Order: sequence, then structure tokens, then C-alpha cells
Amino acid sequence: MDETRIQDRGPAGEPSLKELHEKSPAQPSDIRGGVHKTLPHDSAARHVSGMARYIDDEPELPGTLQVYIAMSSRAHARIVSLDLDVARRAPGVVAVLTAADIPGQNDYSPVMGDDPIFADGFVFYIGQPLFAVAAETLDQARRAAALAVVDYEDLPAGITIDEAIAHAEAEGRDLLPSHTMRLGDADAALAGAPKRIRGRVEVGGQDHFYLEGQIAVAIPQEDGDVIVRSSTQHPSEVQHNVAKMLGVPDHAVTVEVRRMGGGFGGKESQPALFGCVAALVALKTGRPAKCRLDRDDDMVMTGKRHEVRVDYDVGFDEGGRLQAVAFDHFVRCGYSSDLSAAIADRAMFHADNAYKLPAARIHSRRLKTHTVSNTAFRGFGGPQGMVGIERVMDRVAFEAGLDPLDVRKANFYPADGSGVTPYHMSVSDSVIEEIVEELEASCDYRARRREVRAFNAANPILKKGLALTPVKFGISFTTSHLNQAGALVHIYKDGSVHLNHGGTEMGQGLFTKVAQVVAEELQIDIERIKITSTTTAKVPNTSATAASSGSDLNGMAAQAAARTIKGRLIDYAASRYNVSAEQVVFLPGRVRIGNMEKRFEDLVGEAYLARVSLSSTGFYATPGITYDRETASGTPFFYFAYGAGCSEVVIDTLTGEHRLLRVDILHDVGQSLNPALDKGQIEGGFIQGLGWLTTEELWWNDKGALMTHAPSTYKIPTANDRPDDFSIRIWEKGRNPSPTIYRSKAVGEPPFMLAISAFSALTDAVCAAGDYRVFPDLDAPATPERVLMAVEAVRGR
Ligand code: MTE
Ligand code: HPA
Repeated sequence: MDETRIQDRGPAGEPSLKELHEKSPAQPSDIRGGVHKTLPHDSAARHVSGMARYIDDEPELPGTLQVYIAMSSRAHARIVSLDLDVARRAPGVVAVLTAADIPGQNDYSPVMGDDPIFADGFVFYIGQPLFAVAAETLDQARRAAALAVVDYEDLPAGITIDEAIAHAEAEGRDLLPSHTMRLGDADAALAGAPKRIRGRVEVGGQDHFYLEGQIAVAIPQEDGDVIVRSSTQHPSEVQHNVAKMLGVPDHAVTVEVRRMGGGFGGKESQPALFGCVAALVALKTGRPAKCRLDRDDDMVMTGKRHEVRVDYDVGFDEGGRLQAVAFDHFVRCGYSSDLSAAIADRAMFHADNAYKLPAARIHSRRLKTHTVSNTAFRGFGGPQGMVGIERVMDRVAFEAGLDPLDVRKANFYPADGSGVTPYHMSVSDSVIEEIVEELEASCDYRARRREVRAFNAANPILKKGLALTPVKFGISFTTSHLNQAGALVHIYKDGSVHLNHGGTEMGQGLFTKVAQVVAEELQIDIERIKITSTTTAKVPNTSATAASSGSDLNGMAAQAAARTIKGRLIDYAASRYNVSAEQVVFLPGRVRIGNMEKRFEDLVGEAYLARVSLSSTGFYATPGITYDRETASGTPFFYFAYGAGCSEVVIDTLTGEHRLLRVDILHDVGQSLNPALDKGQIEGGFIQGLGWLTTEELWWNDKGALMTHAPSTYKIPTANDRPDDFSIRIWEKGRNPSPTIYRSKAVGEPPFMLAISAFSALTDAVCAAGDYRVFPDLDAPATPERVLMAVEAVRGR
């Protein structure tokens, strides 16, 4: 597509966000629902009334089979024998399928070919799928699966990072090759620095805990084709894996998704397994098949955020200015590759966060454990990398006797564009200094720092902590070719519009935003636009809706499609009414043609009779994205999104319990496509990050069984954990210097990392418990137990 045709409202003379907000709801001469408007999510009313249909809500076709997947009970073993005879004869059972029944490839992996759909000879984690039972009811399928007799021969298993390191030493290799980024001579700079410290922070994983669990329904078609309804962020990948598994071309498989009840990255690669299992049952039995996991099975069987150990070595001066940093990341990948290489890379890409490191060495090891294969999760490794450098900031401030905010400010990427990342990309769009300055003033940071100190001096049991931390997050898939998107727009002859694109809706509001773009382009009310399910039959070869780039990519593609049809309408009107193309102007709901005006639908109806095509695809590819692994350098991001959060916490030093008292957020979304949706993303992202860093603990026993596999033991935040005092502001001055859709910025992931401010504030509170004499090595998640242990440690017990 011609880049220059993409509209590009230059910053000069544009209305401020405030003015734009005041424009909505629509002015009389305006359309309802163009860009920059505060609109609710298109399904908001359906979400809250229970009328939004998820896959399990769809009426089942007659004869639909229910599928249960039996799981390994060993972390690493050879399967000596698998006796399924009794299971096959159990009541209601129609089919029991194993690896031997797969006609094509027994693999659902996204990249590396190392994720068997059903175990074949060996198992590598507790929860690995062994076989599937399809029965008339789910209860019958589950009961039958329990009748299988599996004989295992146990093999050595590594569960923890330490065990994985020991294992790797014995085997002579990690799961995936390590990677190193270098800027300058970090070793020399560390050796020559006035002060130098080393430390470690352990950063735990996280379960996605989407409200709708993994589900797929497969419906057999003629000719061996299959339609799969899948709760997936990546329909094309489910399509491809199902086809590969069946040994048929991609065209034989259609994958559809209207919406997910949350994905958060957990439905980027994982749904392919359930799509494959449902499709296999459907093809083998000729009946529709539904594979729907309950919460416990979902938590045991599917991948999570990667746990990462970050070792740091930092050199700095008396002013807290960094001279050099060396990071070693130890990434717990689980048993297979999944997306771990890109995730571990993104942790490295964010090891600098918003700080200009004069010299850096970042080394990342991707370790194999006999646990579920970890996967994408909001931030995609970035948050783990960022926790490392934010810990460094707190530690440097402690050692230098400075306020952590001053140390942070002394190290920010400057606005003048002179900063270069450890992967040699210029940071030309840094606004972090300005955002932090503004937040520091608006949240009254300095006065509150004094108050916190005074409170702590007066209270022996309760201790408060305060922290203001920045976020700089790189936007684009770091796997360059994924930065592409397609759309399909039809205008029917009554002037109503059918909108389809490759992005998926998981609650984030993508469908609303893309519809706003099309409404703006055609100057029609958003109600005229039908938002439709994502399907591989309409837009092919799509990327996952991930990397926060859903609206950047699909918004551009949909705009291009609408613009093509608009161009045809302009050409038609110009020639029919003998005016120049410039004299055909799309006004709200109408089109001016020379001196005449027509309703949009009337022009469309005329164009139809004149045999003008009213349907178009649109395509977009982000320009200029590169990354060279050999030299560990390039421009992996189109731009950066920035924000800052300030959190105040209080801890009980007798129990370790803590509360988040107040949070202030200032976040840059460029020129927001929809401030209401963006605020929702900022709030949701922050709270999800808070859960990751403070309450959500994944705990495996020494046999490799995940013991926290239900809400009874795995604690996501509740409404009660939201701070009473919670201020979220979209940065009014936000502009995207990169030509994105209406100069907006991606918002899905960046705010997640604002919650690091709460983790830093907890560290500060624990430090206070030891009268600021010892720096606490608090690990994440900072559960009450960990906070209590850290308090005891700083008090020398
Ligand atoms: N918001 C809701 N409500 N539900 C989700 O599953 N996923 C997040 C974020 N916000 C998610 C969400 C993740 S992990 C990403 S990458 C982005 O949304 C994806 O959507 P976008 O690219 O359209 O922002
Ligand atoms: N971010 C999110 N998801 C992804 C990426 C990425 O960079 N690469 C592949 N899937």
C-alpha cells in the first residue's frame, strides 16, 4: 500500500485531547463515533448483561461430542504402556484418540515443532496431554479417561531454575541458544566505576486467568474440511496447525472467533492444541466436537508468564548516574520452545526501560524445565526485564543515599534523541522526562515522601513505602514479518457497512477502535458499521492480535480498505456529475458533489447501479522494522509508548500483609483513538501487573506438580485490591511522531508495567522496617509471606 496515502494529521494546529473529548458525544454536524471519541466498547452492554456470546454460549449442534484430554501425572518419564481398553468401553464413549490417530503431524507448536498434541513415548511435564476421550457428555469423557492405565518409567526432572542450570551443565546445552546484547565496553566501565554493586531479583511467572477458559468447537464439513470456532488471539495459527495435524492444505480449515473472554497472551499459541484435538475428533467421528477446559485443567495444562532470575552488576557514581550495567537473565521456559526465544529477547529489549545506559551487557539463557511450556503474557517478557533495571535504580539510590526518583531522573533517555539502546536503536521520541516531571508535581511526590518518612518514624508496626517508576515500551512485533495486517470492507447498496479484519477481540476494544477508523474515513455514524467475527476465510495469513499492535495494524488496514472504496465512489461521482475529484467531499453522513449534496447511502445506491465495486481489501505493513541477531542490533520497534506510575503502600510488619493506598498514573497514548477504552486498558493493565507482582504465586512441588491451580490458592486481585485513591490520566500532550493510525499509540501492554511502582513501594516499605539500614532483596511476587521474610531479614532476624 502507498504509505503516503495513509492520512497523517500533523501535530501542528491540531485540537487538544480535551477539545476532542468535548466534541463527543457527537455535535449536530458531526458523525457519531469517529476517531478520538469517548465511546463505550461495542459489546459493553452485552458484556454486563450476559448477552455477549462466547463459544460455549453458542447453541450446540445436534450430536456434538464432548472431549476430555487426559494428562500426564509425571514430570519426565518414558511411557512404558498405555492401556485404553477399559476407557474405550466406558459408557457414552464414542472415541479415544492418541498420537497414533493423527494423520498428519503430531505438533501444535508455533515455530519449532516441539509441542506434541498427544505424548508420543515420553512425557515432559505434569499436565501434558496423553490422549483424548470423546463422549456424549463431558462427565462420561472424564470418567472414562480416569480408567486408562499408564505405566511410566521416571526420568530425571528439572523443575526449578537451579535444577535447569544443573541439567544444562550435564547436557551441555540450554533449551534454546543464549543471546547477548552489548553497548560499549561494560566490563571496563564496571571495573572503573566509582561504586559497584551486584545483586539478584527473582521474578515469578503468572497465570493468565482469563475468565473464559480455553475452548474449541470443530464442525466437520464435506470433503474432509472443518470449521473450528476457537477462543484464540491467532486464528491463522490455529488454522495452520489443524491443517498440518490433519495433513490437509490450509484452505480446508476455517477458523472463526467473535470474541474471547480475555486472552492476555495465553491465547496466542495455546489454543492450537484445543483446536487440533476438537478437529481430530470431528474428522474421526464425523460429529461436531467441543473441547472446553475447566479452570484447574486449564491452569495445569497451559503455559504461563516466564519466571526470570535477573542477576545484575552495576557501576555508578556518587550522583547515582549509571556508568555500566551487566544483566544475566535466566529464563524458565518449560519443556519446549513455544515463543520463548522472542519473549526472552523482549526481556532483553526492556532491560534498559527508560534509562540511557552508557555501557551495557545483557546476556540471556533460555532454560529447559520439566514444567508446562511458558508462553506469551501481556508485556511478553518486557515486564521481567524492566523489574531488573527498576531494582537496580532502587538499589543504587539506597547505596548512594539518594531519593530513588532522583536517581531515575538522572538516568532517563533525554528528549534530544541522543540516547541509544543496548540494541543500538536511537531513542528519538523520549518524552519520559516530561511525563515524570508532570506526574511528580501532580501527585505531590516530594511532600508525600516527607509524610511517609514521618509516618514511618512514628509507627513501629505499620510502615509505608512510596515509589514513582517510568515505563518505556517498544511497539511492534520484534519478529519483523509479523508486523502486517489485512482487512475486508464491504459497503452494501443500502449504505450499511460490513467490517472485517485480522485482529481479534478479547475485551480490549479493538473492534470498536477499528470501526471508529472506518466511520471517520467514510464519514458515517458508527451504527452503520457491522463489526463481524474474525475468520480466516475473509482475511488470510494474519498475525496474532498481540504486541499491543492490534489497532495500529488493523486500523491502518481497515482504513486502506475503506479508502479504496471511497476513492471509487469519488471517481464515480466526479465522472457522473462532471466535477473534479477534489469537488467530491465526504461530509458527515453526506457527500458534497460540486454544488450538490447527497446522502451517503444514495450515492452508494447509485454507484451500485453504475456497477462500481463496493468491496475492498486493505493491507498494511509497518515500515522500517529490523533486527539482526548476529550483531544484536537494529530497529525492532516503530516507536515507544511511555508512562509513569506512583504508588503508595503500607505493610504490616507483624504479618507481611500489605495494602495499596494510592496510585497516580500519567500515561501516553499519543492521540487517543478512544479515551474511554484507553483508560480501561490502563486501569486493567495496572491491576493485572499488580496481581503479578504482589499476590499471584505459581508454586510447583518438587515432583513438578503445580499446586496453585485454582482461585483457592492462586490469588488474582479483586475489586478490593484496587486502591481507594486511584487517579488515571491520559497525557494531554501525547502525540506520536511516528505515522500511526491518527497518531495514536498502542495501549494494551505498556500500562501493565506501571505496577512496578507498587513493587518498588513495597521494597521501600520493607526498607523502612529496618530503619533504612539494609536494602531488602524482595522477590516477586511480594506476597505477604515474602514481605514478612524480607522484614525479618532487614531486622537481622
Ligand atoms: N484487555 C482485555 N480486556 N483482555 C485481554 O485479553 N490482552 C492484552 C491487552 N489488553 C487483553 C487486554 C494484551 S496481552 C494485548 S497484547 C493487547 O490487549 C492486544 O490487543 P491490542 O493489540 O488490540 O491492544
Ligand atoms: N510480542 C507479542 N507477541 C509476539 C511477539 C512480540 O514481539 N512476537 C511473536 N509474538
